[in-house]
Parts: sequence; structure tokens; C-alpha cells
Amino acid sequence: MAQALGIDIGGTGIKGAVVDTVTGELVTDRVKLPTPEGGSPDDIVTTVVALIKKIGGLDDGVPVGVCFPAIVRNGRTMSAANVSKKWIGLEAEALFEKALGRDIHFVNDADAAGYAEVRYGAAKDVSGLVLLTTLGTGIGSALIYNGVLVPNSELGHLELDGKDAETRASYAAKERENLDWKHWTKRLQKYYTHLELLFSPDLFVVGGGVSKNYEEFLPLLDLQTKIVPAVHRNNAGILGSAALAAD
Ligand code: BGC
Repeated sequence: MAQALGIDIGGTGIKGAVVDTVTGELVTDRVKLPTPEGGSPDDIVTTVVALIKKIGGLDDGVPVGVCFPAIVRNGRTMSAANVSKKWIGLEAEALFEKALGRDIHFVNDADAAGYAEVRYGAAKDVSGLVLLTTLGTGIGSALIYNGVLVPNSELGHLELDGKDAETRASYAAKERENLDWKHWTKRLQKYYTHLELLFSPDLFVVGGGVSKNYEEFLPLLDLQTKIVPAVHRNNAGILGSAALAAD
């Protein structure tokens, strides 16, 4: 059985599990630890080490994938929209590798989630351009063409109504401004219409925790492109980072 460990670092929690990378099933329990207050690099690395211990340790040779909510270029975190600014410009991949004593594969969280949907979820066997967006604290995006991931698309930061789109259309914006589904969907309508214009995708996949309530908002959207909820909400980052590490 091909196995890999996937770890998903988020603003509130850090989750991980060993994954069967052929079927996309978890082969261990999913372990979650709270993200340390302030989210500083050292504290997060310490938590990841503790998480792996809790999962039961790791055999040599099991690939490790880690995903993180920032632009990741050549192992460096290049942005920090909703995490500690200390990550900007940091050699993050090397930091984890030193602490874990092994190589890891380090990617953006939405890229991992999108890859998980293409391999094991809502976009399996879909050819052409798949565009996944995660609607959470921010808006993450993954651009995947015929199964090949184009990393760091960062489409949550497009301009919408003169503002950073994620500050208007993320799930956090809905909560913050007490928007009902109808009013929030108006913002999503503008956002996805703009994405359609730019990319003419073959499929939109909508992830993030709120996608479990997709019936409240996806049917209200009027788009030319098919739009479907993600299949793997909580585990998408784990599955995608494990699959990318195994590849
Ligand atoms: C970040 C992205 C991330 C997304 C979802 C955005 O604010 O810029 O890198 O993928 O949030 O976590």
C-alpha cells in the first residue's frame, strides 16, 4: 500500500493523518492540535513534531506533505494574510525538515485541497481547467489543468468592489458582517463571475467548512460554469499534501 503523511496547518488547528495515496482513505485516526497562540514559526514547528508523535511516529521512507496558508515558493513562505508576519520570507520547508530530520513536501493549503479534489473528490476524471476556491477565514484557490497543479494562484486576493476579495466574500466576511445567505451570495456572484471572465474554467469546486451548507448558496448563483461542493472538507489539506508528497 502506498502511504504518505499529510499535515494541514491552519489558523485555528493543525491536523494530520497517514493516507493511503491510491484510494485517498485515511489509514490512521485524524489527529488535531490547536494552533499555538500567535502562530509563530517555532511554536508551529514544535506542534507539528508533537502531532506526528501523537499519530504514532513515522516509518522511514513514508513521504511527508505539509500544507500552509501562504504563498510557497521554493520552500519559502512568501506571504502571511491570516498568519503571523514572521512567516514572510522564511525558509519554512527547511525549518520543518530540520525539526523532523527528514525531507518534506511543502505547499499552499488551497493547492493541497484542490489537488485532493482532483485525485479523490469532486473533480476526479474532470479534464480541462478546474478551479477550486476555499471559503474560510480567507479565500484560497487552486488552479489545476488536466491534473497538473499551477501553484500559488492566490485568487482570493483579486480586487472585488475595490477591495481584497477575501475581505468581502470569504466565510469570515459573512460572519463578521452578519450577512444572510442571499446577501453573501450576491458577493459570491460577483466574485465567481469575475473568475469566469478571467479563466473560463471547466469546473468550479467550492471547499472550506461552509461548503457543507452548499444548498444554501450554490443554487442561488447564476454562472455559465458548473459549480459543485468539495467532497473532502476537513480532510482535503491532509489528503492533498500527502498525495503531492507521494507523487
Ligand atoms: C492566503 C492563501 C491561502 C488562503 C486560504 C489566503 O489569505 O493568501 O495563501 O491559501 O488564505 O487559507
